[in-house]
Amino acid sequence: MADTAYHKFRTDRVPAPEGCPVDRVFSPFSETYVKNPYVVLEKLREQSAVFYAEELGYLVLTRMEDVAEVFRKPDVFASANVQDPVLPICAAAAEVLSAADYNPIAVLSNRARPDHSRMRKHTQAGFSSRRMQMLEPFIRRRCEALVDGMQQAGAPAEFVSAVAHPLPGETIFRFIGFPEADDKDLKDWTTNRLAFTWGKASDAEQIDIAQKMLAYWRYCVSFVKKRHLEPADDFTSELLADHAADPDDLSYREVESVIYGLSFAGHEIVSNLLSNGLINLLSTPGQWAEICKDPGLIPNAVEEVLRFNSPQTSWRRVAVKDTELAGYKIPAGTQIFLSLGSANHDAALFDDPDVFDIHRANARAHISFGRGIHFCLGNRLAILEASITLQTLVERMPSLSLVTGQTFSYFPNFTFRGPKELWLTWSA
Ligand code: HEM
Repeated sequence: MADTAYHKFRTDRVPAPEGCPVDRVFSPFSETYVKNPYVVLEKLREQSAVFYAEELGYLVLTRMEDVAEVFRKPDVFASANVQDPVLPICAAAAEVLSAADYNPIAVLSNRARPDHSRMRKHTQAGFSSRRMQMLEPFIRRRCEALVDGMQQAGAPAEFVSAVAHPLPGETIFRFIGFPEADDKDLKDWTTNRLAFTWGKASDAEQIDIAQKMLAYWRYCVSFVKKRHLEPADDFTSELLADHAADPDDLSYREVESVIYGLSFAGHEIVSNLLSNGLINLLSTPGQWAEICKDPGLIPNAVEEVLRFNSPQTSWRRVAVKDTELAGYKIPAGTQIFLSLGSANHDAALFDDPDVFDIHRANARAHISFGRGIHFCLGNRLAILEASITLQTLVERMPSLSLVTGQTFSYFPNFTFRGPKELWLTWSA
């Protein structure tokens, strides 16, 4: 398998480091974890901050200090495994992706230095303040239209399908430059992708998702070609201009692959941020009333949501050389589960970590966007979308509340967390 393949199917499994506690039951797929990972993680953290999860074959880190150390050492703890399917993919789905023209490559999140630095330089330029400013009126307009639609349809409303899911998808598509006319297909191809890599999808679901991934890749290839011939004012055209200026520094395939990867990176996770945020703000006494009274509190409230109820509760690394961590000798090949959710609730850094507090002075010290060379490229865009959504809601629907008695259900997976449905109500 090529070293630069977008997905790799890993079968190697390195046993627990010598002397490291072994947990035989921990699994992010378990019912109790899916329901509330923070309760499970707190208990585990108390027993042993570092342990080997036998069922996963991963070393699990739960302390902020250890998670941050791993992020800081990309040449020892590589990100090569972050897009690999967590569970084996069925032969029929793998067959779909073996199509000769399905050839995206690892470009950012799972690429090592020095290639990563080269590509990051080009892509980072595209996430400039200018482009964020250009996108802001679009996000605001679409957010207002979606909120209006939800309001007009009347209470109660299901927020995920009404606002949280469509808004980030449309935002990332406009950012890339895809025309609005293609939104229906694009949404169909890019929804539920996380089930393929991080979930427990059935064979039929895997095949369906693989077919959509292939269709979406083909669309990206033809879109990049279109922009190559007719540039516009969008992120894709900027990358192509960089490619034209120095094809050795950014290849054409790299441009196609960045576009392909962004649709996932910028979509469902932001939907989860919007929904998680509303759940916490509306269920913690006084917090919604406070941001309605003073929308200036929204930026810190968004950071606190990212800390307290992150849409991404874990990420991965793999040791590429023998090393030491938290007092254990870690052999090369050890796969590591970085519990971002646990680190964000580490009492060594956050006072009363299990309290949701929009005034928390160090809320921004969370690690939900990672740290170091792979630090989330879209962090400003995600925060912008969340801020605009909250501004719109507090302005137009201050009487918003959660429909009482609902229980939230979450899609069982290794890494991401957001409710499948979120029912809201308000007074007319
Ligand atoms: C709340 C929303 C988001 C969260 C919590 C989040 C979280 C993360 C995390 C944890 C990483 C890995 C960092 C590491 O490995 O050190 C990452 C990387 C990345 N994110 Fe995000 N992300 C979010 C939104 C977005 C958006 C909106 C985009 C794009 C529009 C985006 C694009 C990326 C890219 C391209 C990378 C890889 C960067 C690299 O390897 O250099 N993310 N993100």
